[in-house]
This record gives sequence, structure tokens and C-alpha cells, in this order.
Amino acid sequence: MDDFSDLYIYLDGELVRWDDAKLHVFSPAVKYGAAVFEGIRGYWNESDEKMYLFRLEDHMRRMELSQRIMRFGRVVPAEEMMEATIALMRKNGFRSSVHIRPTVYVGGTGESYATDPIGSFITAIPRGTPKKVETGVRAQVSSWQRISDNVMPARAKANANYNNSRYAGLQATRDGYEAAILLNSRGKVSEGQGMCLFIIRNGVAVTPSVTSDILESITRDTVIELLKAQGIPVQEREMDRSEFFDASEAFFCGTGAEITPLIDVDGDPIGSGSPGETTRALQSDYFDLAFGRKSHRPEWRTEV
Ligand SMILES: Cc1ncc(COP(=O)(O)O)c(C=O)c1O
Repeated sequence: MDDFSDLYIYLDGELVRWDDAKLHVFSPAVKYGAAVFEGIRGYWNESDEKMYLFRLEDHMRRMELSQRIMRFGRVVPAEEMMEATIALMRKNGFRSSVHIRPTVYVGGTGESYATDPIGSFITAIPRGTPKKVETGVRAQVSSWQRISDNVMPARAKANANYNNSRYAGLQATRDGYEAAILLNSRGKVSEGQGMCLFIIRNGVAVTPSVTSDILESITRDTVIELLKAQGIPVQEREMDRSEFFDASEAFFCGTGAEITPLIDVDGDPIGSGSPGETTRALQSDYFDLAFGRKSHRPEWRTEV
């Protein structure tokens, strides 16, 4: 078990020691998963000795949307969460890359439909780039279906939604794969467990549309911009699973996954079965941007 006891956590307006951040067992957040969250990365640029939080405001704005979809009685504004994140980062004084997880939750003693009182907390722990970003992953098309907008909207980053990813992830792991791909209720490709996906087909990048029961991923948005800048056309549309058979490359993307090459689906290699040229070029552009090695899009990096 990791020991984070030296770290501080932001909890309801205060910075408290890791071991003192407590939430009551009877709260709707604990009983029913009545909470929404974000995953944000902080990139430590070793040569400049600078920490950049990537697309902080976009994440906090999306968390406002998640709170509205969940009908929270009070929406904690992005500004409040940004200020708290910066204060927490300064208090912890990290000198390596981190993963930040802000949460807004329903506290008190209510039932599953309680809308208040609303509280918030933020954790930040050291986390670098996973090895799979280099090696790529093999994925299984899951027999579990993606939650649909009329059931539990995937557009809200609500904690309870992640039980859907859990089923798919556990099945994929048990069957010897490193990732899962979920189809939605219309049988179309939706996303991976905790990440969006792209294929390159006939020189065009294709990604499931925002009405394909995906989380409206911020990395997906970044990737679309970077691909277009490389001169690669992008189609956001419904995607069939059979299109994997005609893809020359594929990759997952997300704050956690960053740009993870998808090299095989259900035992069938994608293209050459190893990370492709476009994927590698994209990774290089993405990390240049996130680490602030190039000066474009300065508004996407918050220095702390
Ligand atoms: C279900 C799901 N899809 C996609 C993503 C990617 O979203 P983002 O790029 O905003 O991190 C995430 C989170 O990382 C996620 O949890």
C-alpha cells in the first residue's frame, strides 16, 4: 500500500493532513457514490524546475457540468476549485509529476436523491507516465455495455459511473488483456475504461462523437487540435467495431492514459501490431505541450 501520510489534502476549505481527511460513512457520497470528480495531471519540467497543471480550468468547468447533471443543490464554481488546487500544490511542494483528483460530494445524512449539503476535497499524489504509453496495450471489446445517456449519463464524470468501467476492466484483465473497449446501447464503439479512443483509417483520424456515450474528454479535444495541426483530417462520428480491422493505427487518450497506443483488439493486431508513426508524433507533440517545452497554448498550462 502506498504511504501518502506526509501529504496534505484540501477538504472543505482547509488543508488537512492526509490521515485526517475524513468523510462520514452515512453520507450519500459514501452510501450511493453521490459525487463527481476530475483527474488532472501536473507536469514537472525538470530543466525549468517548473510545475504545470494541464488544462486546469477546463477540468474544473467540466466538473461544474457534472454537478449540474447530478442536480447538486450548490455548484462549486471552477474558480474556487482552481484556487484550492493551487494552494494544495504549493503546500505539498512536489518536485515530480503529479495526479490531482478534485471531488465534489453530497455530505450529510440523506438518501440517494439528496442534493445537499455539498462539500469538496482535492488530493494530489506523485504520478509519472505509465509504461504502457511506450509499449502500447492490447484491448478486448467488452461484453459489458457502456452506460447510456438515459441510464447514467457518461458525460457527467460521476463516481458511480465507474462501476461500469470496473466490470469491463476486470473482465479484460481476467481474459489477459490490458484494456477494455465498450460498445454503447446502439452497438457502436464508445470508449475505453477511463479513456477515449481514435483510429487512423485511410489517413483520416476517426473518433466516436460526443453523443456516443463518452466522457467529453479534454485530452480528446487536445488531440483533435494536434492532429489537425499535423494536417491529419479528423472525423467525430459514430464508429463501428469492424473499422478496427481496417485501421493502420489506433490509440487511447485521456489524462491518465495520456496517449496510449492501441496495438491489438481481440487478438487481431492493428496495422503492424506496434505503435504507429502518427501515434508517436502525436505523443511527442502532446508531451511538448504538457511539459511546456514549446510555447504554444500557454493558457492550457497553469504554473504553480
Ligand atoms: C470514462 C472516461 N473517458 C475518457 C476520459 C478521458 O478524459 P480526459 O481526457 O478529460 O481526462 C476519462 C478520464 O480520464 C474517463 O474517465
